[in-house]
Amino acid sequence: MSLDTDHFLDIDDLSAAELERVLDRAAALKWGEEDESDLLADRTMGMLFEKPSTRTRISFETGMTRLGGHAVFLGPDDIQLGHGEPLKDTSRAVSRYVDVVMARMFEHGDIEELAAYSSVPVVNGLTDDAHPCQTLADLLTVREAFGPLDDGVSVAWVGDGNNVGQSFVVGAALTGLDLTVCTPPGYGMGDDVLDRAEALGGAPTVVDDPERAVADADVVYTDVWVSMGQEDRREEKLAAFEGYQVNEELLAGTDAKLMHCLPAHRGEEVTDEVLESDRALVWDQAENRLHAQNGLLVELLGS
Ligand code: CP
Ligand code: NVA
Repeated sequence: MSLDTDHFLDIDDLSAAELERVLDRAAALKWGEEDESDLLADRTMGMLFEKPSTRTRISFETGMTRLGGHAVFLGPDDIQLGHGEPLKDTSRAVSRYVDVVMARMFEHGDIEELAAYSSVPVVNGLTDDAHPCQTLADLLTVREAFGPLDDGVSVAWVGDGNNVGQSFVVGAALTGLDLTVCTPPGYGMGDDVLDRAEALGGAPTVVDDPERAVADADVVYTDVWVSMGQEDRREEKLAAFEGYQVNEELLAGTDAKLMHCLPAHRGEEVTDEVLESDRALVWDQAENRLHAQNGLLVELLGS
């Protein structure tokens, strides 16, 4: 079976039914209900990175190995793209060699251009605006911990309204997950993202008080305050996010679990105490990147 999309640039490139199918396939691969060892035999992934990565790089690379395929790391200094070759030329050449491209880029428009010129599927491994592979892993993690996503499980997003949060908002709408969003003024989810969520099944509840956001939450989800590429805005952002830290004081009186896409900046968006507590689902979440992406790849490549 394959998906009705050429590329996976954001989570709503999948329909609700396709998303459920990818998550089911991911779970089957994770728990050994299906042998994954040759599903992508002789297939190669090109992994193009403009930004650093631990989880995305390793989970895709080991994921391709587990599926019987191979991955090639293409870092910013390794290929001609970083030395003046236009993106459209890189895309046309690379896609003549590999079967799928995974890219981590700054501008979302750049990954759209990459996809437009690619003769093979392009998968978004994070842009400034979206991180749909993270959303796949997040939804798999919530489903494993709490059961069906549309059965009343509630997540509170406390923090920045950019890539990870934005794809999660759309993923929640597609799956019927009950989501509350709490971001500082001026750092909310994009209007286009909220509109897409609304059209797909429901925009999140937006509140401006972190305590109110987490009061009834099964899961509290946060992300760094200073994202890759925003290092020169550090002072401004730390000031704006004061009061939005996920700590025991905020979670007191709740049984809420913690999700975080990682890497975490302890002492900023989350405390060491919460991260090291039984609340944390973050290691399952990190592991699930591998299984969720393998589910996606086999569906996307029709294996
Ligand atoms: N969550 C995530 O994408 O982590 P990396 O930046 O380490 O890939
Ligand atoms: N918002 C973070 C996510 C890292 C996975 C960033 O863009 O740096």
